[in-house]
Amino acid sequence: MTSSRWCDFDELIRTVSSQFRLGSYSDHGPHHWKRVEQNGLWLATQTGADLMVVRLFAWFHDAKRENECNDPDHGRRGGEYATSLRGKLFDLDDAAFESLVSACVGHTDEQFSSDPVIGTCWDADRLDLGRVGMIPSPDYMSTAFGKEVAKAGSFYPFLDRIGISDNAYERSGD
Ligand SMILES: [Fe+2]
Ligand SMILES: [Fe+2]
Repeated sequence: MTSSRWCDFDELIRTVSSQFRLGSYSDHGPHHWKRVEQNGLWLATQTGADLMVVRLFAWFHDAKRENECNDPDHGRRGGEYATSLRGKLFDLDDAAFESLVSACVGHTDEQFSSDPVIGTCWDADRLDLGRVGMIPSPDYMSTAFGKEVAKAGSFYPFLDRIGISDNAYERSGD
């Protein structure tokens, strides 16, 4: 059992991005991961999810995708990749690490999670479906706040609640 928790995010982002097979402009690549991270941090202000797990999920969940269309095993490979870098570029206590791996593995074929950490990760990913021309549906969200955001179509109506200014919100886009 380890209780250490740390992450060199700059190095982790460089490492994970540079090994990605589909290129930096992939619909499932680093630009998407950055938005998932941002969505997750905003969701976590209301869901109370573990911020380290949410951020690490964002950078690992699609890191091992091998094509843009149908790659049902990429969640499992993402979880294995996270495992291979544990202790090298980041660490988490065992329970949080298990959540991270479960969130990566399950995001490809499970629909909902009542676990607030895993639910926040999956909602953060699904709220970025606009990039591939799909409107995120409240029916596919796990968390109550994820449903509200999907229903509204963006985080914009909730800026006071998540504690950011209009300007910061505008600057958060790519
Ligand atoms: Fe994925
Ligand atoms: Fe994704």
